[in-house]
Amino acid sequence: MENSYDYGRIVRPLLDWYRENKRTLPWRENPSPYRVWVSEIMLQQTRVEAVKEYYVRFMDALPTIEDLAKCDEEKLLKLWEGLGYYSRARNLQKAAREIVLRFDGTFPTEPEDVQSLSGIGAYTTGAICSIAYGQRIAAVDGNVLRVTARLSENATPINDDKYKKELTQKLSTIYPKAGQDCADFTQSLFELGALVCKPQNPDCAVCPLAKYCKARKSGAQKEYPILPQKREKRRESVYVFLIQTDEGFCIRRREKGVLKGMNEFPSHVIERGESAESVLNEWGMYAFTEIKRKKYKHVFTHIVWDITCVWVKAESAPFDCYAMDEIEEGVSLPTAIKQCMDIIDDK
Ligand code: ADE
Repeated sequence: MENSYDYGRIVRPLLDWYRENKRTLPWRENPSPYRVWVSEIMLQQTRVEAVKEYYVRFMDALPTIEDLAKCDEEKLLKLWEGLGYYSRARNLQKAAREIVLRFDGTFPTEPEDVQSLSGIGAYTTGAICSIAYGQRIAAVDGNVLRVTARLSENATPINDDKYKKELTQKLSTIYPKAGQDCADFTQSLFELGALVCKPQNPDCAVCPLAKYCKARKSGAQKEYPILPQKREKRRESVYVFLIQTDEGFCIRRREKGVLKGMNEFPSHVIERGESAESVLNEWGMYAFTEIKRKKYKHVFTHIVWDITCVWVKAESAPFDCYAMDEIEEGVSLPTAIKQCMDIIDDK
């Protein structure tokens, strides 16, 4: 439950601190709703440093909502390649098409309309409406949950949706007057969480809110926020086959499981110790030579893959093949699969 902490007093000192200490980030220049939206979607599961380069490239390639709506899927996934969580890119395009159809190609301004778009929830709505339009709507992400849990010593586990909703409402009421201050206040909370009120080592000595922080007062900064119980990840053993023919390497589209709908080098989840050879036989391949194999690990949100990458040469294969430079330039591959290309250069 939300407690009775008075957040009103943090607004001024936090805004003053933000203006002195904010980072220069590409999405902070010309913060149009489209630019803020794309940045927030990228930042949802990916670190700021990693996002920067992707963001600039994406905006150069697709500078308008219409460009995104019209972009072909393979190009879009190539722009997203390596960022992970590819449904984010697909939803982004779906929403761009909704904006073209329902709002004449102009990003909507009403929060209810914004939140009705694919892939946009309460958090992203708050971020876009406050940062791009200066509206008084909070955007509660992990940073904001951590900062506020420490300020107020709130012991609610931060995955509690009802708590998040209450906190969003409560913070929205203390937002400054509509305009630039609102945009800055949202970002000042992110910034404090990223630079000062960090998960592991909060730097309370330089915190502009130290004197308002209950956890700091009781020396319990590191005990907040209360994190949900971690679930053990499922493990899967997987073969990834680099099947090389005269035409290049085999690529196919994944039809099920994690990464469904993405391109891959043909892979197979190993059951009961199947050999690589038996899997290739099942695909109708009998004449091949194994060049090399190597083990990799890839951690997804809920699954860990123990990958055995097997590189084989064959005269023919039951999948489409592409030259390696064609793959590098035009085929999007998720990182779990793409890392297997290292085996070719390793020697
Ligand atoms: N994390 C989420 N949104 C952010 C933003 N706009 N700036 C910096 N970090 C963020």
